[in-house]
Amino acid sequence: MPTKRRRGLLIVLEGIDGSGKTTQARALLRRLRRRGRKAAFFREPTRGRWGREIKRLAVRADSLTPEEQLDLFVKDRRENVALNLKPALAAGKVVVLDRYYFSTIAYQGAKGLDTGRIRRINEAFAVRPDLVVILDVDAAAGLGRIAGRKTRDELFEREDYLVRVARIFRSFSGPRFVHIDGRGDQRAVGRAIWSRVEPLL
Ligand code: TYD
Repeated sequence: MPTKRRRGLLIVLEGIDGSGKTTQARALLRRLRRRGRKAAFFREPTRGRWGREIKRLAVRADSLTPEEQLDLFVKDRRENVALNLKPALAAGKVVVLDRYYFSTIAYQGAKGLDTGRIRRINEAFAVRPDLVVILDVDAAAGLGRIAGRKTRDELFEREDYLVRVARIFRSFSGPRFVHIDGRGDQRAVGRAIWSRVEPLL
């Protein structure tokens, strides 16, 4: 009897800066591996050439127009999809991805670009995720968590923007989206994420 090829799974974690995605991504990977599943972790922006370009330009906060930002994030994502996501999924792995095109819809949408257009550009090439976990925290809470990394002025300037980003994140709905209150204790958040991932394994 031919063996059934095991299909990978793409699990995306999304949320504003300081929502705890990265901590949760690591916890989820540990749980998957304990379960005996082969798992891979990737993040966007990547450490590839476009991702590094994004990091380099981001140092001068508003040196790019929203359209230029969109272009760079999409270039970075095309590489991530082709070089990382597709091969890992084809190998049957569970892929945990820290940010994906929902970040572009939220962050570049909050800069005024049309969210429907951003979605269409991305969905023309991006693998559809099996689950998108959105950690909902409000902008002030997110900024509180990353306060140590920024000066006060930068924080005030950013709050307004992050309020709009958080609003777009909250607006995603559909069978593949799950919203989890990210303000709670990190272990409780981890269990809530696992309860949505486990049935898909
Ligand atoms: P982040 O995940 O914070 O990377 P790191 O923790 O390594 O610094 O991502 C950097 C910033 O890029 C973050 O503020 C969100 C933003 N971003 C976008 O504006 N659009 C996108 O499409 C993505 C993936 C990220």
